[in-house]
Amino acid sequence: MLSDLKPQAPDKILMLIEEFKADSRQGKIDLGVGVYKNPEGVTPVMRAVKAAEQRIWQTQTTKAYTSLAGEADFRDAMARMVLGELPADRLATLSSVGGTGAIRQALELARLANPGVHVHVSDPTWPNHLSILKFMGLPFTEYRYFDPETRGVDFEAMKADIAKAGRGDLVLLHGCCHNPTGANLTLAQWEELAQILEKSGAIPFIDLAYQGFGDGLDEDAAATRLIAARLPEVLIAASCSKNFGIYRERTGILMALADNGAAREMAQGSMAFLNRQTFSFPPDHGARIVSTILTDADLAADWRAELEDVRKGMLALREQLASELRNLSGSDRFDFIAHHRGMFSRLGATPEQVQKLKSDSAIYMVGDSRLNIAGLNRDTVPVLARAIVEAGI
Ligand code: LMR
Repeated sequence: MLSDLKPQAPDKILMLIEEFKADSRQGKIDLGVGVYKNPEGVTPVMRAVKAAEQRIWQTQTTKAYTSLAGEADFRDAMARMVLGELPADRLATLSSVGGTGAIRQALELARLANPGVHVHVSDPTWPNHLSILKFMGLPFTEYRYFDPETRGVDFEAMKADIAKAGRGDLVLLHGCCHNPTGANLTLAQWEELAQILEKSGAIPFIDLAYQGFGDGLDEDAAATRLIAARLPEVLIAASCSKNFGIYRERTGILMALADNGAAREMAQGSMAFLNRQTFSFPPDHGARIVSTILTDADLAADWRAELEDVRKGMLALREQLASELRNLSGSDRFDFIAHHRGMFSRLGATPEQVQKLKSDSAIYMVGDSRLNIAGLNRDTVPVLARAIVEAGI
């Protein structure tokens, strides 16, 4: 049996981690995988996370199972963080194995309800969205999103494509900090999009992996809140990996908003069932860290303050990079870097230019020229800017 297996295509983002490790050059720069690094190149454990872990260690008296849907405090606190309130009459929630687990369970839920469900994804999107859809055998269509000329959103094209989605189709949207491009809709554009979705009867499915990394914790949730208030049914997959820095704990949540109580009940039961079929009870440690922080005013304030420092640090790096490139290139064609939000920006370089950055300058980014801003610091920004100009980008 095992010898009948075929090799699977390696994940392009994760492959870079190994390639980078194997590179022995001094001064190499890793702008690949979406993991936050401080100016010293360390992915720190946040202060509030350490404090919460200590509190859990001191007070936890059992490791017995929680519930199939996960700890209720975590789910309620996350729903409040994302939605700004707890719409208990409409909302079903599920602890998941990271944000990716929430995406997978959302698609499983949609498939349970509608086995042939059609999914619309942005072109481009996080490569693992496509990989999961292909693996599950779900039909999908890409809608136009990125304008390679402006490096912004081609909103007219996006609207035209999304208007073609059918009733009951899923439209996968990045709630903030679009991965991989860094280009995002304005709130007024989200409003227009909500109208198009209302008209078509397609169901928005929001991937919210970077809340707090763009314009602020509430600002980054504004689009999700708008969609949740306007549309009868919404799926939301939120990750705690980045904003709580608990990547390896695999902590995330799936939220399903229903338009009536009976559908909410059905969704809640089906979601718990899906966890049981996949891994039974969801992991608890990360969820408990998050609920400990969010339900304690001091810990929450400290966490928010540290998250703000992280966000502002990334914004400062964006400004610095855009300004270095303005000086070196004598043009404003890289100003989009300062306007993008979140961890990533798509440079718009060719695969050959990305390869040249790697071979000539030991600078690693994803092949589509997505760079992780958080992989930089004040000293490496000028190095990157020079290499970008030298590579003819
Ligand atoms: C990324 O896009 O780099 C992150 O979401 C990490 C991952 O799992 O791909």
